[in-house]
Amino acid sequence: MDPAQFFAASRLVIVAGKGGVGKTTVTAALARAAALTGLSTLIVEVEGKSGLALLFGREPLTYEEITLSPGGGPEGAADIRGRTLTPDDALLEYLRDHGMSRISRRLASSGALDIVSTAVPGIKDILILGKVKQLERAKAADLILLDAPAAGHAITFLLAARALLDAVRVGPINTQAREVLDLLTNADRCQVVLVTLPEETPVNELVDTAYHLEDRVGVSLGPVVVNGSYAATDGLDADPAEAASVAATTLRDGERESLAAAADFRRHRMALQHEQIERLATQLPLPQLHLPFLFNADLGPPELEALARELLDAIANLEGAHS
Ligand SMILES: Nc1ncnc2c1ncn2[C@@H]1O[C@H](COP(=O)(O)OP(=O)(O)OP(=O)(O)O)[C@@H](O)[C@H]1O
Ligand SMILES: [Mg+2]
Repeated sequence: MDPAQFFAASRLVIVAGKGGVGKTTVTAALARAAALTGLSTLIVEVEGKSGLALLFGREPLTYEEITLSPGGGPEGAADIRGRTLTPDDALLEYLRDHGMSRISRRLASSGALDIVSTAVPGIKDILILGKVKQLERAKAADLILLDAPAAGHAITFLLAARALLDAVRVGPINTQAREVLDLLTNADRCQVVLVTLPEETPVNELVDTAYHLEDRVGVSLGPVVVNGSYAATDGLDADPAEAASVAATTLRDGERESLAAAADFRRHRMALQHEQIERLATQLPLPQLHLPFLFNADLGPPELEALARELLDAIANLEGAHS
């Protein structure tokens, strides 16, 4: 499938998945991949301190939009911008936009939002999604990527609109909830990309989340990203001593055993990974994009670049209606 077409499918992509599976990393990689196809991209981070900006070598994001990666370069990439969205800031902005600056100032200092959000569950989620909807409508970028909260919460986050619609029948909250739901359930405007690791528990959780999101929210799911896959390695079955002699070196005491143990570990890990990827494919009929596990202590701009290229290759290999 043509990556440019892939990224143009909907303006908003929500990246979701279990805690720690790589949502933030995948969000950044998707942004860079989209920018390389020429689409300007805005990353919206919901929970602060995700480390997203670090992947671009930048300071942590704030509510004020910044440029994470300027456009240009030999490939004519588009720019990538980023910002956070917190319910408190979104509420203040909403009140200010609706001529209620004085109330908004008082609310901010009184901690009233906490009281309101305890009384009306889902209100914080709808404030965030309401702002996302506004960005989508304003065409804030060719592609808006939302780094969603961890999975258990991602469902409630997305279900909030539906729940509020039932709870609040009239007024601005009802309108907001309905408009958010319109956005979430329109495949031409919004898609959810679920991320997992090739491991048992994350795969189980992803399958559950996928069905919940489709049945109960009615969102359309994009391909699943399987992050942190070990790449296939040649020579795992070779005898370390023979391999060493081919490489014209000799092994010291114990090295043969250590190498054999390492190969064993890797073989075992590859088998488990293969099993989980197959299981995911049978339980969830969605295309998969695989991202390799990178053996670096910290991920930064070079690793981000590598992951973005991997994504572009994986997307190009997807069988699509328009391939
Ligand atoms: N493909 C990869 N190769 C190596 N390390 C990775 C890879 N993807 C993510 N990581 C590392 O794994 C950790 C978790 O990744 P990340 O922060 O993207 O996950 P997350 O799902 O956003 O987590 P959280 O639920 O806490 O927001 C980070 O330290 C990140 O650098
Ligand atoms: Mg994260």
